[in-house]
Amino acid sequence: MTTPRTLPVARRIAELPNYPFVAISQRIQELKAQGIHVTRMDMGSPDLPPPPIVIETMLQAVQRSDMHGYSNYRGTPAFRKAVARYYKRRFDVELDPDTEVLPLLGSKEGIVNLMLALVGEGDVVLVPSLSYPAYASGAHLAQAEVVTLPMRPENGFLPVLEDIPQQARQKARLLWLNFPNNPTSAFCSLDYYADAVAFCQAHNILLASDNAYMEVVFDGEGPAPSVLQVPNAKSTAVEFMTLSKSFNMAGWRLGAMVGNAEAVSALLTVKSNMDSGHFLPTYEAGIVALDQTSDEWIRERNARYAARRDRIVEVAPTIGLEISEPPRGALYVWAKVVGMNDEEYALRALNEAHVSVAYGSMYGEDGRGYIRMSLGVADDELEDALERLYKTFGIR
Ligand SMILES: Cc1ncc(COP(=O)(O)O)c(C=O)c1O
Repeated sequence: MTTPRTLPVARRIAELPNYPFVAISQRIQELKAQGIHVTRMDMGSPDLPPPPIVIETMLQAVQRSDMHGYSNYRGTPAFRKAVARYYKRRFDVELDPDTEVLPLLGSKEGIVNLMLALVGEGDVVLVPSLSYPAYASGAHLAQAEVVTLPMRPENGFLPVLEDIPQQARQKARLLWLNFPNNPTSAFCSLDYYADAVAFCQAHNILLASDNAYMEVVFDGEGPAPSVLQVPNAKSTAVEFMTLSKSFNMAGWRLGAMVGNAEAVSALLTVKSNMDSGHFLPTYEAGIVALDQTSDEWIRERNARYAARRDRIVEVAPTIGLEISEPPRGALYVWAKVVGMNDEEYALRALNEAHVSVAYGSMYGEDGRGYIRMSLGVADDELEDALERLYKTFGIR
């Protein structure tokens, strides 16, 4: 018998840790194969649909004969203009749709490709310790070094920029920030952004702000601030926006990078060698989402998330969790585990209660002892899941 050959993979892939959610997904598939339904509270995928007019626009566009060819590497001018109008309306930020807006196949793609565009061996990427895994994995793919910036509860989970070591400052090409934050739901102020802009200007670093949750704000008026509201931020900053969370369109894969024109141009170079844009009707529907979604729709959607948050906060002490501050936005509850470690909690939640949650140490040391629960779960299913968690961890 011949031994099967092992396919040699590139070193940058061999050295890349598995994307954290892959292991959870595998276990969920095994449970599914046994006929067990798992409530997925590990991923921030909105359960509610986009505004009806977005779906209507898609249905109509699909029927047009001129909507089925390739689009442009830079997306349609109409979509880019809609992104610029949206920034003007929501943030009073001016963007040139031709040079400062680049449509993306969802922001994850752009986040990773930006690093292929800008960094390589010998460069440092500054990544906050509790953050979306694609920042670190994109830096690894680009063969740059990741320097982790601690995020601690005593600092409101904000990385302390003054603490960044001199050597890292000198080699750094990129700083990632993400507020409202996944996984902690922390917010930052415009003043914090202003300090980050000044820091990046002083050290010739591109500030990449991932504002995926800008429209997911509870208990008050959104959106969360944009880094581009800081005067002259475009000289050193870009922002990632996505329709995934803002308009419940995660599966549509539509977002944009906006801001610094040189970064837009560099990312376009990577993308034009890699993808060929969206299905044209997606842009049509995206324009309507950006232009026509009412403030009331956003308020009502966020009120539903907030009601789920309140329910989890209420039940938390009875299911072995401690929540020091209820989240003000983003799509997650970040909770401290009582009486066991976070991985054990997540494993028991999955295997015994059939509820999947993300565990904090998946993100690194600063996440140890915490779990993250998504609010993108239908109300009835959430109730059932909390009941099952109570049966597993029940503490009266
Ligand atoms: C902070 C953050 N950024 C980016 C993304 C990616 O979103 P998308 O690729 O759907 O635009 C996510 C998804 O969960 C996220 O949490």
